[in-house]
Amino acid sequence: MPSTREYARQLMERCDVLAVHTMDEGRITRPYGTTALANARTQLTEWMRDAGMSTRVDNIGNLFGRYDADPAATDPKTFLIGGHVDSVVDAGRYDGILGILSGIAAVRRLLDAKTRLLFAIEVVAFADEEGNRFHTSFLGSSPAAGLWDHSWLTLKDDDGVTLEEAIRRSGGDPDALAGDALNPASLLGFIEVHIEQGPVLQDRDQPVAAVSSITGSDRATILLHGMAGHAGTVPMTLRRDALVGAAELVLAIEQIGRSVPDLVATVGKLDVEPGASNVIAGRIELTLDLRHPDPKARSLANLDVRDRLQEIVSRRGLVSEWIDSPGFSDTACDPTLTDLLRDAIAAEGSEPISLFSSAGHDAITLATITPVTMMFVRCMNGISHNPAELIVEDDIEVALRVLNRFLVTVAQR
Ligand code: HGY
Ligand code: MN
Ligand code: MN
Repeated sequence: MPSTREYARQLMERCDVLAVHTMDEGRITRPYGTTALANARTQLTEWMRDAGMSTRVDNIGNLFGRYDADPAATDPKTFLIGGHVDSVVDAGRYDGILGILSGIAAVRRLLDAKTRLLFAIEVVAFADEEGNRFHTSFLGSSPAAGLWDHSWLTLKDDDGVTLEEAIRRSGGDPDALAGDALNPASLLGFIEVHIEQGPVLQDRDQPVAAVSSITGSDRATILLHGMAGHAGTVPMTLRRDALVGAAELVLAIEQIGRSVPDLVATVGKLDVEPGASNVIAGRIELTLDLRHPDPKARSLANLDVRDRLQEIVSRRGLVSEWIDSPGFSDTACDPTLTDLLRDAIAAEGSEPISLFSSAGHDAITLATITPVTMMFVRCMNGISHNPAELIVEDDIEVALRVLNRFLVTVAQR
């Protein structure tokens, strides 16, 4: 039987193999419903089968690999291990992928040890967590958690393709999504192994941590309407320039983000129309992402942004629209599972640290149907959503040991 080191090495190699599945030559961009994502899923299917799992794909495009329970188990439940296969634009190679590949490695190790547990394991590759194509949160895990909102089918991507059409093109049936909800009574829990995306583990010189809770996020799209016009002929005093209004708003949002401890406020996307060097901008679309561990502080910051927006548009003669996008709410990880995970971390020789997550994860949706926990793995300088994302094989070896111990402990209980 291979050593844990060998499973860790294979996992790292597999991250490199998946990185090749991208929509952009030379960088990793793998949004929902693309050929790149379908190809990555095909590769994962092969590895799941190789680890003794049977596979299925649901209507949104989530891939499930099932490793059955010990035949001696009566009425066995299922433990889910997962991550997401989609990525942001110009992503790193570990965010999301690590959770899926850790699950596959854990199952492969059981297969090699000729072991089955008293529960089944399903490794799940969620089809869309980042939501970059349709400006959603947890699009993949939502139908699985029974949280499907039928109105999402009319959402459009930047090319005007509806989500309904994207689902059909990927082989799913948009009318059958509600039927894909997992049965909570059949589930024991969910764990995702994920890169930390922050610097704490590096600072504390520890390879892994348990996650105690996940911070919520408010999201919105803000439209500013001004008046397009000739860059040469419209005097500065007569302009209603949407881009300059947006510039002021972006700075105001940054200032709000800096003014409250633990608040983070981001404008990550700005679309300018008509978008020509000799035309005054007539319309701007920008995104807002607000996060704070305390929902009250987040709501206050949200109101602050709205106030500043009103002040800017009325002073500049612009008109604004505020469209709330699906955000996510604060979620506590299950204390029992998280304590078991901390025990497993300690038993494998590391400090049993608990961290909260400021990034969103599918555990938020899964928590509505089953107990969830997460394990963070140290990532270099806390960098993520960036091609410089980096983890090391030594830490993956620890993470796989901890995951294995955790699963065995859950089975014993
Ligand atoms: O935005 C997030 O927190 C997550 O990475 N999707
Ligand atoms: Mn991410
Ligand atoms: Mn992620």
